[in-house]
Amino acid sequence: MQRTLVLLKPDCVQRRLMGEVISRFEAKGLHVVGMKMLRVTPELSRQHYAEHVEKPFYSGLEEFITAAPVVALAIDGLDVIQVVRDMLGATNGLKAAAGTIRGDFSSSRQMNLVHASDSEESAQRELKLYFRDEELCDYESVM
Ligand code: CMP
Repeated sequence: MQRTLVLLKPDCVQRRLMGEVISRFEAKGLHVVGMKMLRVTPELSRQHYAEHVEKPFYSGLEEFITAAPVVALAIDGLDVIQVVRDMLGATNGLKAAAGTIRGDFSSSRQMNLVHASDSEESAQRELKLYFRDEELCDYESVM
């Protein structure tokens, strides 16, 4: 069993797609163990996107991610890191395959609706940025 950090980004919240995206994760049988709406600060953005801070697109990314609330989700499941990334599709919504979340709802490289951790290491790091241990709820799910 793995745990991953998923962020419904400002465009997802503002376009009222939160329920649509969460429904897809639930329909897939994934297990939401944490959920929180918050505003990403510039400091949190720099921590979250540390590997991109020096990239030319970073200032635009920070402006975008801090412009409206996000919803952070902690999600459990077998191989959930790869499963969620497959469900999101390619980073650039224009190139993401039909049937994926970005492929169906995004036409942008920056405003691509959802972020998800790309490895176990980043999942552990990112989960700690958004959730304290006591905010995550372990419970039995029914299939
Ligand atoms: P995400 O999966 O959250 O990881 C980094 C984010 O940076 C990515 O989704 C996009 O929102 C954004 N991003 C990545 N590459 C580019 C780019 N070339 N131009 C603008 N934004 C980008």
